[in-house]
Amino acid sequence: MRTDTRFEPLVTRRLLLRRSRSEDAEEISAYRSDPAVRRYQGWDRTDPTAVRASIEEMARRAPGEPGGWVQFSVEERSSGRLVGDVGLSSVDGEPGVVKVGYTIAPEFQGRGYATEAVGALVRYAFETLGADVVRAYADAENLPSIRVAEKVGMRLVERLEHRHGDRVWHGRRFERRRDDPPAAGPYGPEPPDAAWGR
Ligand SMILES: CC(C)(COP(=O)(O)OP(=O)(O)OC[C@H]1O[C@@H](n2cnc3c(N)ncnc32)[C@H](O)[C@@H]1OP(=O)(O)O)[C@@H](O)C(=O)NCCC(=O)NCCS
Repeated sequence: MRTDTRFEPLVTRRLLLRRSRSEDAEEISAYRSDPAVRRYQGWDRTDPTAVRASIEEMARRAPGEPGGWVQFSVEERSSGRLVGDVGLSSVDGEPGVVKVGYTIAPEFQGRGYATEAVGALVRYAFETLGADVVRAYADAENLPSIRVAEKVGMRLVERLEHRHGDRVWHGRRFERRRDDPPAAGPYGPEPPDAAWGR
């Protein structure tokens, strides 16, 4: 896989994806601290100081570089407003695999922005970074996240159960391979009930 040391913002019909900057921390912290947004996310801290520190750490890494996440802020082109963030990360021990993550602020959800931004990120991972596989994980109950993965052409490849003490996390792993068709069926390889149930 390639490392992109000269990242240029990704421009879609309505959005612009650029590297996150320290100044984005307050806005990102505000929506990440919303209980509905953080419900299925693994962030330990969502306060501005922690978000800023994480942005600054990721800013030192180029997309495609091993070692962790790189984050992009998503701007609405018509207004310049920050509507969310997406990220990608290489996967230790699995060359050619890129993980993606995504968050859209509640007031901007339901407009297709996540699909548009993640679609651009998937294309970037294949075309610029030379990835073979793009992967996303979702909680089995996180239907909007699952839907976004499907809409960008990923398919359900694994059901996961991780035990944390006496609690069990039910997850789903979605993937799109470089030579997969642009979009799978409306709900991936399984009927909706099976794919979305537990
Ligand atoms: C997941 C998330 C990024 C989606 O953002 P978004 O911009 O609203 O997504 P889109 O508008 O592109 O698409 C959302 C899809 O989910 C569907 N959806 C929304 N709520 C749903 C629900 N309760 N049940 C089933 N589908 C639902 C929408 O109808 C849409 O699908 P459609 O186009 O087929 O109608 C956003 O909900 C979010 O930030 N959630 C919190 C953070 C998170 O959990 N991120 C994912 C972790 S991997």
